[in-house]
Amino acid sequence: MQDNLHNIRRSFDKGSLSKKTVDPNPIQQFRSWFYEAKDSEMVEDVNAMTLCTLGLDGIPSGRVVLLKAYDEYGFYFYTNYNSDKGRAIEAYDKVSLSFFWPSLERQIIIKGKASKTSMETSKRYFDSRPLGSRLGAILSNQSQVIDNRKILDDKLKELEKVYEKNDPELPDYWGGYLVSPTSIEFWQGRPNRLHDRIRYSLDDLDWRIERLAP
Ligand SMILES: Cc1cc2nc3c(=O)[nH]c(=O)nc-3n(C[C@H](O)[C@H](O)[C@H](O)COP(=O)(O)O)c2cc1C
Repeated sequence: MQDNLHNIRRSFDKGSLSKKTVDPNPIQQFRSWFYEAKDSEMVEDVNAMTLCTLGLDGIPSGRVVLLKAYDEYGFYFYTNYNSDKGRAIEAYDKVSLSFFWPSLERQIIIKGKASKTSMETSKRYFDSRPLGSRLGAILSNQSQVIDNRKILDDKLKELEKVYEKNDPELPDYWGGYLVSPTSIEFWQGRPNRLHDRIRYSLDDLDWRIERLAP
């Protein structure tokens, strides 16, 4: 029997967006929205974003990762390079990142090219993580099939002993990606589904700003 969800809907009316009011630079615009979300206290996991890659099987694949930094070059996240997403990016480096902050009725969609961060950048972030997270990153063959949970718990116990006195090194299969944006769309919910969509697209070295139909 079909579970009909037709009546789940709400009206959006918390804000508006126009070409005149946005910042000419999309990273500045991102910064302003990001801090509004961070400071609003209504947005949980403000830096959680959906990373979409084109899978090796040709099927697009999305999963949540955490944004760990951003600057004029783009957006940074960290992962296992041998994971499904790592292998997908190795084969095809175009990706998208998207944020949805329901309480602000806002969505941001970033498209661009992913490249590995330098070892120094990866190491700096790896070393800043709590010991448990560093050991977790080392011991997990992310995205591989495993027989049971115990394998992970046993490996963790083993590694906790090994690294009782000395710090673990950054493994070569783990690190960051920088997503250098070629387009960034800011979406603000509006009444009657006539939402505001402002898209920045990289045109040579300049950002072209356009309004899109909702
Ligand atoms: C809130 C949240 C944050 C996450 N952050 C990360 C992250 O920063 N890096 C990461 O590799 N996986 C993160 N994950 C797990 C991924 O969603 C995913 O399960 C994992 O990376 C394996 O994906 P893959 O098999 O497609 O490579 C997070 C999941 C959630 C729900």
